[in-house]
Amino acid sequence: MCGIVSYIGNKDAYPIIIKGLKRLEYRGYDSAGICLLKNSLISYKSKGKVKDLEKEFNKKPISSFVGIGHTRWATHGEPNKTNAHPHLSNSKNLAIVHNGIIENYDSIRKLLKKKGYKFYSDTDTEVLINLIEYEQKSENLSLFESVRSALKQVIGAYAIVVMEKDNFNEIVVARKGSPLVIGIENGEYYVASDASPIIEYTKNVVYLNDDEVARINIKSGLQIKTVSNKKVTPFVQELALSIEDIEKGGFDYFMLKEIYEQPKSIRSTLRGRITAQNKIKLAGFRDFEKKILKANRFTIIACGTSWHAGLVASYYFESIARINVDVQYASEFRYRNPVLNENDVVLSITQSGETADTLAAQKLAKSRGAISLAICNVVGSSIARENDGGAYTHAGPEIGVASTKAFTTQLTILLLIALRLGKENSSIRDRDYQRMLIEIQMLPSTLEECLKIDKKIKKISKEFMNSENFLYLGRGMNFPVALEGALKLKEISYIHAEGYPAAEMKHGPIALIDEKMPVVVIATEEEHYTKILSNAQEVKSRGGRIISIVFDADESISSISEHVIKVPKVNKYLSPIISVISLQLLSYHIAVMRGCDVDQPRNLAKSVTVE
Ligand code: AGP
Repeated sequence: MCGIVSYIGNKDAYPIIIKGLKRLEYRGYDSAGICLLKNSLISYKSKGKVKDLEKEFNKKPISSFVGIGHTRWATHGEPNKTNAHPHLSNSKNLAIVHNGIIENYDSIRKLLKKKGYKFYSDTDTEVLINLIEYEQKSENLSLFESVRSALKQVIGAYAIVVMEKDNFNEIVVARKGSPLVIGIENGEYYVASDASPIIEYTKNVVYLNDDEVARINIKSGLQIKTVSNKKVTPFVQELALSIEDIEKGGFDYFMLKEIYEQPKSIRSTLRGRITAQNKIKLAGFRDFEKKILKANRFTIIACGTSWHAGLVASYYFESIARINVDVQYASEFRYRNPVLNENDVVLSITQSGETADTLAAQKLAKSRGAISLAICNVVGSSIARENDGGAYTHAGPEIGVASTKAFTTQLTILLLIALRLGKENSSIRDRDYQRMLIEIQMLPSTLEECLKIDKKIKKISKEFMNSENFLYLGRGMNFPVALEGALKLKEISYIHAEGYPAAEMKHGPIALIDEKMPVVVIATEEEHYTKILSNAQEVKSRGGRIISIVFDADESISSISEHVIKVPKVNKYLSPIISVISLQLLSYHIAVMRGCDVDQPRNLAKSVTVE
């Protein structure tokens, strides 16, 4: 979850690092810190956000050609100045920033305590930097070799950057389970948890792989070894990202920018994937189609919003391709000892490609022989690199913590896969397939039309901004949309909200309904329309305040709804993509009106790299 930035070269490191930390703040924002090298290692730390760290630095600014920085999402130890990174070793000769968890830190700490080491913070990271120092001193090793030697003893996940007093030419970085990318330009090096702090300086990057340690020396260049001492040739690749992708572009929040970007993002998802002859082209899936169709079990694993996309996809696969699908939370799946073998296919869905539970579940599936596929947004992420095949959503960077365009692009690609499989096993009529493809290609412009409801939703939001609870109801494919609407609202506005299958409401939640309870009824699926209308009437007769989302504002729904949100009419498979836009906007406006920090909600971080 934390964000790491480091620079070594011939420029002033502080401005580069602080700007990079701001770009990575979505990964964690409870404390931040920087260490720079002058005559000694000089650290600046603060509780809170990167802007608080800037104030700290400005009290006593220095310049340096090398530095490391960190923005934290606390795991070990409360978020305070002492626990903030960077951490220094006992001798103050070494400094480290770390993203991840050292699981055996307690036993290492005990061992180091016996050797006389003292610990000032509650963090596992301070243990690691002292272990590196211990290795360096007792074995008389170089910085590079002492990091490698210490990491041999470590269990857990890490992305680290280590710097050393008096060593102006060198930093050492390593990764296992947490991402790290190195940017290279004219003898200068940039290190970060993702490419966003690097993109304005260079497009040439090396993604470090698990178990690799790199020595970055401005004189001798980049040298990589595995922890077990095998030489690795660095693979330099070109970034496809642009600077506009990671800026707000005139919007108040990234979340709003990303909501409005959905037509463009879906255009990118579709690009090159539907041929002029109406064939669906998904290169990363082609070799696995037959296996999916013949699989013992087809399991989707994901977390949060991506899990909701998986739930919608289960309707797609079942109804279009007649495939049985099991959708599991990755965090549960990995610990339930699932029955898996080479006849199983496991599909991970993830925006970041770094979610710890999804990554671990995917590794488990692979280790048991199952075919592991992934739908992922971030190119080069851990999950994207570890699977047998899959597809990128190409949504562009999603920076707001609340997932928006990731969800709709995931649904788009999942629908394409279902159609492709349905065509392959002839479970969809050609006429329906052709019609679907036409509608899918019109989706970006339909979404542009749909976004015109924003003003109306802003007005509705004003009326409901002080509500304490919300209920979201949907049926069929719109049930996961109800879950997603509730998740969006609670994570950014801190209003308690629940999503339910509309009919299930009678089995408990109906007791909550009174004249204070807003109930969002997602009624955009024609097949279920009359049924959900009856459920809405049950809400109305108990005094609930209905906001309905519909294709047609007919008399029956209008007469019982306090507000009717009309969205463009689409095929039932596309209705989740259209309906969710209103829910994203509703939660966004309510959160802004309540004064919440929409892009960085409390206690959350964008990619959850701890289990
Ligand atoms: C939702 O708005 C959240 N950002 C969260 O639920 C997210 O979907 C979840 O953490 C999974 O992330 P991933 O798609 O990057 O794996």
